[in-house]
Amino acid sequence: MNILLLGSGGREHALAWAVKQNPKCDRLIVAPGNAGIAQIAECAALDIENGGAVAAFCDENAIDFVIIGPEAPLAAGVADRLRDAGILCFGPSAAAARLEASKSFTKEICDAAHAPTAGYGHFTDAEAAKAYIRAEGAPIVVKADGLAAGKGVIVAMTEDEALAAVDDMFSGAFGGAGAEVVIEEFMDGEEASFFVLCDGEDVLPIGTAQDHKRVGEGDTGPNTGGMGAYSPAPVLTDALAEKALAEIVRPTMAEMAKRGTPYQGVLYVGLMIQDGQPRLVEYNVRFGDPECQVLMMRLGAQALDLMHACAEGRLSDARVNWAADHAMTVVIAANGYPGAYEKGSVIKGLDDLAETSFEMCFHAGTSEKDGCIVASGGRVLNVTARGTSLREARDRAYAMAEAIDWPDGFYRSDIGWRAL
Ligand code: AMP
Ligand code: GLY
Repeated sequence: MNILLLGSGGREHALAWAVKQNPKCDRLIVAPGNAGIAQIAECAALDIENGGAVAAFCDENAIDFVIIGPEAPLAAGVADRLRDAGILCFGPSAAAARLEASKSFTKEICDAAHAPTAGYGHFTDAEAAKAYIRAEGAPIVVKADGLAAGKGVIVAMTEDEALAAVDDMFSGAFGGAGAEVVIEEFMDGEEASFFVLCDGEDVLPIGTAQDHKRVGEGDTGPNTGGMGAYSPAPVLTDALAEKALAEIVRPTMAEMAKRGTPYQGVLYVGLMIQDGQPRLVEYNVRFGDPECQVLMMRLGAQALDLMHACAEGRLSDARVNWAADHAMTVVIAANGYPGAYEKGSVIKGLDDLAETSFEMCFHAGTSEKDGCIVASGGRVLNVTARGTSLREARDRAYAMAEAIDWPDGFYRSDIGWRAL
């Protein structure tokens, strides 16, 4: 099989690493990729949000299967364009990708599917939004409706903070994404992420994870794209996962199919768990980053078979082979992240790291310059390891982090603290 993978982050390096191990993969091209991905696959420059350009590239390169990593090409309809051209593709249509691209759409689907989630209001003008906040009181959560690269959610502990967030959103702080806002009841509890494949009809769970969104030790400081993750998530017991499938995931998938927009791809189900009851926080229409890194470390080569079965609508026959293992990934970010940071500093020590089925350093934001690996993003490396216990996985991951010589980067030393 000739495979094209779209994306350039740690998520895509992990996907490429898993796919490459599967003997069914003859050729793997990643667009645009990064310096780490370039060590294991061909990289190609391509405008991945342009469905026509991606379809033409597939034609020229005899691509049999396309895996779409990030949400932006999905929301832009790249999967639709590929399917129209008869190209097998893993990832939802633009209509189904609204489960991530529009928070009010997701809330409306949850209402129709009777899926437990936070109570909410949906507003297109600031005054009505503020009246709702004053009536409900704080804590309360203000969300830009559209895609805002993970930054459009303000968990406001005071009413003033919530009112200010409404002003920010309607004055364009999040661009078009904030032209509409959803205001939600604050949910208390422990968060966990649940990953399922859906082929439009059948649903197959492929793992659980927990991430650390805050930049600082002890889960403090500003939100980031994620500073580390581990799998499985102990809080998401088999019984809770079954409950989430029965009450949230399957009814959502049935509602999408009923509307003529069946969902096909991986669904990232963000849950809040309190008193044995899961409630939906959000859906994402792609793998999490860095959650994907720990899932791929645990699934290995079978990830390709699972994504392929999903794309071909064969999930009812697919099985996941679980090992009783644990994985952890620690994000190494550029000093200053998630605020302003420098690019271009040289990272040393990468060549000496072991690359085995138990430990891999996935690249998230790197490029190659004059034979050196240099930082080119905020989140730069993901040291990822697996073990028979979470502690063993953690020790391996942190040993890798310590072996990397990059004074311009930092990482949290407490990933997994809750579970450990
Ligand atoms: P989202 O992009 O919707 O996942 O929101 C980002 C983060 O904000 C989530 O991972 C939660 O930590 C937090 N969050 C979102 N909605 C709520 C809510 N209704 N109650 C409490 N926390 C929330
Ligand atoms: N790590 C959170 C996300 O990928 O959305």
